[in-house]
Amino acid sequence: MKRTIIITGGAGFIGSHVVRLFVNRYPDYRIINLDKLTYAGNLANLRDIEDRPNYKFVRMDICDFEGVMKLIQDEHVDGIIHLAAESHVDRSIKDPFTFARTNVMGTLTLLQAAKLYWEALPEKYEGKRFYHISTDEVYGALQFDGTLFTEETKYQPHSPYSAAKASSDHFVRAYHDTYGMPTIVTNCSNNYGPYQFPEKLIPLFINNIRHGKPLPVYGKGENVRDWLFVEDHARAIDIIFHKGRIAETYNIGGFNEWKNIDLIKVLIKTVDRLLGRPEGADDHLITYVTDRAGHDLRYAIDSTKLKNELGWEPSLQFEEGIEKTVKWYLENQAWMDNVTSGDYQKYYEDMYRNR
Ligand code: NAD
Ligand code: DAU
Repeated sequence: MKRTIIITGGAGFIGSHVVRLFVNRYPDYRIINLDKLTYAGNLANLRDIEDRPNYKFVRMDICDFEGVMKLIQDEHVDGIIHLAAESHVDRSIKDPFTFARTNVMGTLTLLQAAKLYWEALPEKYEGKRFYHISTDEVYGALQFDGTLFTEETKYQPHSPYSAAKASSDHFVRAYHDTYGMPTIVTNCSNNYGPYQFPEKLIPLFINNIRHGKPLPVYGKGENVRDWLFVEDHARAIDIIFHKGRIAETYNIGGFNEWKNIDLIKVLIKTVDRLLGRPEGADDHLITYVTDRAGHDLRYAIDSTKLKNELGWEPSLQFEEGIEKTVKWYLENQAWMDNVTSGDYQKYYEDMYRNR
């Protein structure tokens, strides 16, 4: 079956893996990557597929209603997988307005444009799908009591980032309940893997260990996150987009909880081993710093529903995923240098100037 799908935020970390998977796996689909290319968007993440005939990049802000509306109409879009967002908690603490604009108003803009286009078609919502990618952070924080976030857990966001994501989730569900739009929401735990912007814990720390720079551990390093390899998330998105039930929520996670400080020790060990440094050589880089404001203590996802209904399970063990990830960053220092120097932002301009 032929389909035309917009993937928003496709130049970011998770979005680039989703775009790659769909472009490779579905040659009959037209995949349109709609991305504003903020500091987090990097077209170099997609160099291997950028010339494929079933792929198109459109630089656009999801808050641009007229632009989005025209694109959906002109391209006869029948599916939207929405990942574009401001995604970093620390930035949201400093600049909440940008998070409300993109995450809330941007999502609403996409919903309204899709609604107007789809409702005007003879078949209306038949065969259409609006799939919103959200986070486990909307559920708030867990204590150290073994409980897990389920799809029924009450929303209790704490950071401006998670509050904005929670609001966008509510808008998506409201478009189903009010207008009958075929929507799906998934809430995923922390992702790790290649192409993650080095403001996030894992790529930042791998790069700092390599260069002998301090590792700023927030608070006592006791916060817990539930880590999932990004390609497993992309695979879940594929399955849910095609087989998930309309109006449902699915939690996605790896049953893989790590205390930050323990994870950081694994990172140091792995980087040192792969670089041939003696064990313990870089332990001194650990530097405890002031805690993040409102720092959520623990996240842990129960993804049983997804496993039972759609058969999805993580494919990679954490040890394997971390090894793969550390190797990737060490072998792709040019990518890292490009991102940390800011040069990657010139790529788009150069690419289009040279055409
Ligand atoms: P990211 O920050 O790496 O990428 C975000 C992308 O969105 C970038 O390419 C950026 O240019 C684009 N973007 C930002 N604002 C835009 C706008 N106004 N218009 C168009 N494009 C815009 O993010 P990520 O970590 O890949 O996260 C992707 C999605 O997955 C987000 O919705 C996030 O909330 C969700 N999520 C992330 C994680 C995680 O661990 N990273 C976990 C669960 C859910
Ligand atoms: O849970 C899903 C969420 O995971 C996503 O929705 C977010 O988009 C994504 O950024 C991520 O949020 P976190 O805040 O958990 O990720 P981050 O990598 O920023 O931090 C992971 C943990 O490490 C967290 O407890 C804070 C801590 N940390 C982070 C940084 C950047 C440090 O101790 N030092 C640091 O320098």
